[in-house]
Formats: sequence, C-alpha cells, structure tokens
Amino acid sequence: GAKKLWGGRFSGATDPLMEAFNESIHFDRRMHAADIRGSQAYAKALQKQGILTADEQQTLDRGLSAVLEEWAAGTFELRPGDEDIHTANERRLGEIVGSVAGKLHTGRSRNDQVATDMRLWLLDELKQMLGFLRELVGALVHRAETDIDVLMPGYTHLQRAQPIRWSHFLLSYAFWFQQDAQRLEQFVPRVAQLPLGSGALAGNPFQVDREWLAQELGFSSVTPNSLYGTSDRDFVAEFLFHCSLIMVHISRLAEDLIIYSSAEFGFVQLADAYSTGSSLMPQKKNPDSLELLRGKCGRVFGDMSGFMMTYKGLPSTYNKDMQEDKEPMFDAVDTLSGSLQITAAVIATLKINASKMQKSLTGDMLATDLAEYLVRKGVPFRQTHHISGAAVKMAEDRSCQISDLSVADLKTLHESFEDDVAAVWNFERSVDNRCSVGGTSRVTVMGQIETLKKWLN
Ligand code: ARG
Repeated sequence: GAKKLWGGRFSGATDPLMEAFNESIHFDRRMHAADIRGSQAYAKALQKQGILTADEQQTLDRGLSAVLEEWAAGTFELRPGDEDIHTANERRLGEIVGSVAGKLHTGRSRNDQVATDMRLWLLDELKQMLGFLRELVGALVHRAETDIDVLMPGYTHLQRAQPIRWSHFLLSYAFWFQQDAQRLEQFVPRVAQLPLGSGALAGNPFQVDREWLAQELGFSSVTPNSLYGTSDRDFVAEFLFHCSLIMVHISRLAEDLIIYSSAEFGFVQLADAYSTGSSLMPQKKNPDSLELLRGKCGRVFGDMSGFMMTYKGLPSTYNKDMQEDKEPMFDAVDTLSGSLQITAAVIATLKINASKMQKSLTGDMLATDLAEYLVRKGVPFRQTHHISGAAVKMAEDRSCQISDLSVADLKTLHESFEDDVAAVWNFERSVDNRCSVGGTSRVTVMGQIETLKKWLN
C-alpha cells in the first residue's frame, strides 16, 4: 500500500476493508480549495517564524496553486492511500515540489486543519445561501406587489376566518425568510473563528501568528483555546439548525400552496415546469415540487439530529467520529440551496385564480366586522361578539348569508343596528380597515413591501 502520513510507528498493514471504512476523500474532496488556501496561508505564517525560507515558502505556494489548478481542471488523480483531502493535497504537493513539501505540516495537525477547512468552506457557502434567500424574498415581494388587489379568505385552523390580501399571505413568508437571512448573517462571526494554530490539541509550538493567519484567511477572530478549537463543531450544529428552520418555513409554504392548488380550493395553479403527471391517470397534474420541498424538510432534520447524535458523546478534542460531521453539512447545503431556488421559481411562475379566491369569501367571514360595527356605536365588544354570533345563527337557521339579514332582523338582536350596517358587507372595506402597522390593508401591505424592498437593496 501507499506510504501513510502516520505510518512511522506501524509495522502491520491496514486491512483493505478498514482502508475503505476509514477514508473520507470521496466526500471531503469538496473542500479541496479551502484546504489549499489554508495551507498557503499557513506556509506564510511558518516563513514569518523562520521555519521556512522565503524560497521554500514560494515553492510551496506555487506547488499548492498547481494542485488547485489540477482540481479545477478535473485532472487531479486520486491514489490509493489518499485517505482524506489533507492527505491527498499533501501527497500531490510532494510529487510536484519534492521533499520541501514535508515542511508544510510543521506544528500543524489535521485536527486544526480540518476544522479550519470546514469553516472556510462553510463561509463561502453561507454567502451563496444568503443570495438564494434574498432572491426568494425578492420573488415573494415582486408577486405581492403585482397581485396587491387580490383578496382571499384567511384561515385559522384551516377554517375560513377573515378576508385578507393574497399579498399579505405571501409577505408573511417573505418576513420569515428575511429573519432566516438575518439569523445566518449573525451566525457568520461564529463560523469565522480560526482554529488553525491549535495543533493537534495543545497549541502551536512555533508561535505562529494566529491573528495574522485569521486576517489572511478572512476570519474575524481566532479560537481562544486550542482544545476548544479542535473539539468544536458547534458551528455545524448551529448551521444544521438554521437549515432546519428555513426548511420548516419552506415546508409550511409548500403545504399552504398544495392545499390552495387542490380543486376544492382552486386558488393557485402550479406552472407545468414545476408539476408532474400520473403514469395512470391522464388528467392528473401533481404539485411534486411542493411535495418534495415539504419532504426534504424531514431530510434536513435528519442531517441535524444525526449529527447531534454523533457529537453528543465525544470526549474532549478530536475523535474520528467527527469525520461524520461533513456529509450532513454538505447534504444540508445542497438540499437547502436547491430548495430555496425551486421555491423562488415556483412562486414566480405560479398562476393564481383571483376570482375563485374572491368567490370563496363568504358573508360569515364579516361577522367580526359586524361586531366591530356595534363597538363603534358604543356597545362593549364582549356583548357585540355575542350579538354577531346570534346573527350568524339566525342566517344559518334561515339558510341565508348573514349579509342577507334585513336591518329589521338585526334590530331584533340589538337596537343600535341602523341602515348604515349595509356598509359592513364589503370585503374591501373589511380588509382596508385593518390598517395598523402589520395589518392587511392596502396601505399597510404596501408598507411591508417597502420595508422588504429597502432591506433587499
Ligand atoms: N478526515 C479527517 C476528518 O474528516 C481529518 C482529520 C483526521 N485527524 C486525525 N487525527 N485522524 O475528520
């Protein structure tokens, strides 16, 4: 077999089964660029300490750039014994620059190296994910603006509750995704703590300038304790939680739209591009994109809970269990990135049936407004609630709409009802009455759009 980084004290060979079981190259190769950036910075830090000459540092730098080019060009050839990305890059570097490559790892361990690579890699991905979140908010805001005049039934317990603007519904999700983006932004400084220079666990014996390294690699601080630096994977746990919560928001939006796209509701129709048919029933058009979004939420929870199980029982500093931290992190990045893009596309291409939404508004959804009418005449709300309830019952008994009751009928319930009660039976008016900040009136929905647009720019 190939010569191992750690082979000095070994005389027996590794079981090939164990070799396969132990390797992580097939997934951690994804961090090849981060690994090389970290090494290039580390070589400079060694040179600053006089461990490498300027020539040696430049040789390593050029060699590492050559390795990076091979990865970029797809010509990097894996060899048996390339246990992980750190091993593979160092092996290849040695082939390119010769024995000076053996100086690169001075004072460094794969323990501080891998923690650094993961954080570097994640910082890049976070930027991309923040971009996808913004695009999704943008898609929701754009739709909300275009569809501003569309009213629909608002639901609690999935029962018709009060009329709202369709835009108001869309924006509720936009604000969730805005919060998600803000949470990710606040998370960045916790990822941007540099572990490099922690050694295997005890620290770096060559006094490498860790603050300088942090600056060089775009980190905002250094981990303040080498045991913590090599042990810590809280940033993975927290990341997986953020992904899970974002997926909850996507899943709930998907669930709403699945319901609204059923024939019984008929409020929205998915674009063909995001639906599929049935192999048996020719008429079917299924909202598969939305169902996948809802389903993938469970998958990301799995990434989070699986990782937490691995993480919980580890004694201090590095344990090989920690190699299991990468796949859930990668999977969550891939799943979330795909989900955010699909969600934005579904929203942008959705057809809505405004007249079906309007037709689904029923008189009883104005029962609250009827109670409020009496409130404005000075009747205490608790009483008006009861009176309006009696009006609902009266209409139900007569199999008519509450709005069909005459003023004389209403007067039997309370003497304060007058002819102007007719104005209550107007959905627009009901909606536009709710004009305190955050309400569903046209003015306050436009205000929400402005708030989000400002944030987007
Ligand atoms: N492939 C390993 C991982 O992903 C790198 C760190 C190995 N360190 C060690 N002491 N064996 O965790």
